[in-house]
Amino acid sequence: MKKLIQAARIAQKNAHAPYSNYKVGAAVVTENNEIVVGCNVESSSYGLTCCAERTALFSAIAQGHKHFTELAVVTENGGTPCGACRQVIWDLCGNIPIYISDKDGNIEKTTSKELLPNAFDSEKLK
Ligand code: THU
Repeated sequence: MKKLIQAARIAQKNAHAPYSNYKVGAAVVTENNEIVVGCNVESSSYGLTCCAERTALFSAIAQGHKHFTELAVVTENGGTPCGACRQVIWDLCGNIPIYISDKDGNIEKTTSKELLPNAFDSEKLK
């Protein structure tokens, strides 16, 4: 868990956040215990911004990973994943532990189910 949070903290430094100045790092553990990281990448057309959590998960998918076991998010102030990311985390990871850390290393442990109770998902599309 420490290693995962540390990977997210390093990725946070790569955040491209010239508009909000709010840097976010994320890291996900894959089925074969690899860690894939992401950071937020902002656009001058603000709505095109991609959050750190989705950057990490989309990168992992692009690298061929299909299953994820843990996710860490690091921000300055311990901000929690946004609604859009909660949906994508649920869709791609199911119910996994999520560690949220601030700049001082305070860690909040939650799960994707806690963050998105009663989620809409692929089950409803059958
Ligand atoms: N952000 C994330 O990267 N993850 C979240 O879950 C919340 C928000 C980013 C998007 C934007 O670049 C900045 O934080 C401020 O909203």
